[in-house]
Amino acid sequence: MIIGFVGFGKVAENLVRLIKSDDITFLTSTENRSSNTISNIKRANVEVLPTFREVANSSDILISVTSPKEALGVGERYGRYVKGIYLDLNNVSPDTTIKISEHVNDLVDGAIIGKIDSSNPRLYISGEKSEELLFLNDYIETKIISDRIGDASRLKLLRSTYTKTLSALLIESAQIAKNNNLEEEFFDILALTEGDDFKDKSKSRINNTLTSSKRKSEELEEIVDYFNGEDLTMVKAALKKLSQ
Ligand SMILES: NC(=O)c1ccc[n+]([C@@H]2O[C@H](COP(=O)([O-])OP(=O)(O)OC[C@H]3O[C@@H](n4cnc5c(N)ncnc54)[C@H](OP(=O)(O)O)[C@@H]3O)[C@@H](O)[C@H]2O)c1
Repeated sequence: MIIGFVGFGKVAENLVRLIKSDDITFLTSTENRSSNTISNIKRANVEVLPTFREVANSSDILISVTSPKEALGVGERYGRYVKGIYLDLNNVSPDTTIKISEHVNDLVDGAIIGKIDSSNPRLYISGEKSEELLFLNDYIETKIISDRIGDASRLKLLRSTYTKTLSALLIESAQIAKNNNLEEEFFDILALTEGDDFKDKSKSRINNTLTSSKRKSEELEEIVDYFNGEDLTMVKAALKKLSQ
C-alpha cells in the first residue's frame, strides 16, 4: 500500500513513525517547501516525487496535513487525482470539510484528538469510506464516528468549545489566586477534587494557551461562527478574554 502526504510537518512525521509496516510505502514531495519541511522529509523514511500532483496520482491513500488555511486549496488542487481515499486531518470546520468533499471522490473526514506526538493520540474518522481506514488501528487508535462527512470535524470543534473555554477560565482564576498570593494552594485544593495531576495539567494548559493565544482565539472565532444558532455565552467570554 502507498500512503502519500501533502504537508510534511509534525503530524506527517509522527504518522510515519507510528505506522510501521513493511507493506506500506510513504510518499511526499518537496515542491515549493521550506527548508524546515525538507529536513523533516530527509529525516523520515519516505520517498520523494517531484510534484504533489504525482504524489496524489500514485497514492492509495492521500493524507492532507498542511494547515487549516491551506486545506481547501490542497483539496481543490490534488483531490481529483487521487484514485483511492483522501484523508483530511487538518483542523478545519465542518463547512470547510464539506467544501473539500466537492473536489474529492472518496473523502474521509479525520480529527486527531490529543497532540500527535503525545503517547496516545487518537484518530476519529467519518465518511462512507471510513471502514477502509480501520487497518490504521494496528498503529494508532482509530474510531469511526459516522458515515457523514463533517462529523469528525464537528466533534473536534465541540471538544474545543469545552477545552478552550475552560483554559480561559483557568487563566483568569489562576491569576486571581496569584494576585492573592495563594496560587500553589489554589491548585492544591482543586487537585483534591479534580485529581492529582490537575496542577501539572492546568499549568501546561495555561502555558500552551498563552503562547498560542492568537491561534486559540481564531479557533474560538470559528466555533462562534459555526455554532451561531446556539447559546455561546461562555465561549464568547473566553474569546474576549483570549483576544485581550
Ligand atoms: N500538531 C498536532 O498535534 C495536530 C493535531 C491535530 C490536527 N493537526 C492539524 O494537522 C495539520 C498539520 O499540522 P502540523 O502540526 O503537522 O503542522 P506543521 O508542523 O506546521 O506542518 C505543516 C506542513 O504542511 C506544509 N504545507 C503548508 N502548506 C502547504 C501546501 N499548500 N502544500 C503542501 N504542503 C504545505 C508545510 O510546509 P512548509 O514548511 O513548506 O510551509 C509543513 O510541511 C494542521 O492543519 C493542524 O491543524 C495538528
